[in-house]
Amino acid sequence: LAAESEELVRIAVTVATEAAELVRNARSHAVTQVDTKSSETDVVTAADRASEQLVRDRLAQLRPGEPVLGEEEGGATSLDGLVWVVDPIDGTVNYLYGLPWYAVSIAAQLDGVSVAGVVVEPVSGRVWTATRGGGSFLDGQPLRAAATTRLELSLLGTGFSYDHARRLRQAEAVNRMLGKVRDIRRCGAASLDLCAVAAGWEDAYVEHGLHRWDWAAGGLIAEEAGAVVRFPGGADDGLGEEATFAAAPGIAEQLRAALVESGFGKV
Ligand code: IPD
Repeated sequence: LAAESEELVRIAVTVATEAAELVRNARSHAVTQVDTKSSETDVVTAADRASEQLVRDRLAQLRPGEPVLGEEEGGATSLDGLVWVVDPIDGTVNYLYGLPWYAVSIAAQLDGVSVAGVVVEPVSGRVWTATRGGGSFLDGQPLRAAATTRLELSLLGTGFSYDHARRLRQAEAVNRMLGKVRDIRRCGAASLDLCAVAAGWEDAYVEHGLHRWDWAAGGLIAEEAGAVVRFPGGADDGLGEEATFAAAPGIAEQLRAALVESGFGKV
């Protein structure tokens, strides 16, 4: 599996880097073509679609016949076996506004569990990678989650779902959390929040209602950097079945308890 995962990560880096270039070049023209998805604020640009098409075409050439699950076109109805999980632009709203925090995210999952993950940032050129059991890396340098042990001194990342009712519940819980941590960040790209936890740039990250393509690559990168993680669809541990959670090991349990106390529970 180790050698195979290295091969999967190499392919994902090649394809994500090409998609990142497409996305960056498209940003240099005006982003005019905007459609909406689940709500008026859940946007998709022509670049999201073109990026996903590029990834699908390249994967079909390099790994013929392997199913792809992507944010814009769906696909892969079963998680059995090897499935490529693709977010062609994570952080589309940042992209739309010209903020630099967006990324192309590609993971290979085996029976629904990530074995290789790659996140490429078009603006900075950063390449984040991980293989299951093989560690995680930023531009080839190994990553370690923060050594933080005190919740009150920790920096927490979060995000708000496009679903209106859910985002209001999230905001209320975040409001209660504010007094329990150093500060809170909302960077606008889940994959990059998870990478930030891997690098120790954030001590932890939590969000409800993410899709598989938001966390599949970044989640493995955080996990392989030693973060305590959990993803939607896992056993219910009190955070609610839809929470994505990644935390430096020294604060994971304190944070979990504080989140539950703050009403971050099941939605
Ligand atoms: C979104 C971003 C955002 C998170 C949303 C996601 P998208 O992904 O990751 O940070 O808060 O829940 O949907 O739509 O830009 O690919």
